[in-house]
Amino acid sequence: MIFGAILAGGTGTRMQSAALPKQFLPLAGCPILIRTLRVFLNCEALEHIFIAVPADHLDYARRLVENWCPDERVTLTPGGATRTDTLFALIDRISERFGSRPDDRIVTHDAVRPFVTVEMLLDNIAAAQEFGAAGTAVPAVDTILESADGTTIQAIPPRNRMYLMQTPQTFSIRLLRDTYRTLDNAEKARLTDGCGVLVARGIPVRLSPGSPANIKITTPADYALAQAMAARIDGSVPLRKEESECKPSDTAPSIR
Ligand code: CTP
Repeated sequence: MIFGAILAGGTGTRMQSAALPKQFLPLAGCPILIRTLRVFLNCEALEHIFIAVPADHLDYARRLVENWCPDERVTLTPGGATRTDTLFALIDRISERFGSRPDDRIVTHDAVRPFVTVEMLLDNIAAAQEFGAAGTAVPAVDTILESADGTTIQAIPPRNRMYLMQTPQTFSIRLLRDTYRTLDNAEKARLTDGCGVLVARGIPVRLSPGSPANIKITTPADYALAQAMAARIDGSVPLRKEESECKPSDTAPSIR
């Protein structure tokens, strides 16, 4: 089976939004997490979608999903203290619910990248066929430099070899789990995503194309940019029928 796994378990400290973790903030009226979930729901390759949220926002997130786009393919679950903890909490929940088969795959994605497309998801799933793992990336347009101390430059790698990592990232669940077990605690603490886990053990990870529009909303400046992007997209692209059915009911919880 192919499972969607949306990582929405963070608290968004760099966003400094006291009221709510950033994944619940509205973008042109629709919560960021819901925008992301809609894309997953439109991807027919995904048989079930798991979403991990902070444990203290589980009820809130349940109401949000119920009000905006209720769907029996969606399961909410508590996330973990780190992004990697959340990733493996999702994998554990999938195994509890559906058991585990050797060819099970998981399509992981940051909830706070709401401009992902179905095409990106499908490209990433296809790219993972060969090695059981694929990450989404875009070529770096700026030159990347390395600085260990933040004050002097140690290295400037050739720009034509540099990419910016995005999500989605697709993995064979078995491969990811088995590889993670081989890491020591320092490696586990350092790595923040599944691609890093596999690369640390020399396991090949395919690339699939992302987009500069597939931004991760991290800071207030990103949020302002995302507001403008969402307003433009919503204004120029008519809502599809299934999306127009995803309007919140009168009882939608406050998102401010
Ligand atoms: N994430 C998660 N569980 C965590 C930490 C992060 O599921 N324990 C998710 C976030 O919700 C987000 C994605 O991973 O969708 C990318 O992480 P990031 O942008 O760093 O989110 P936060 O950890 O929430 O932000 P910050 O680092 O500013 O606190």
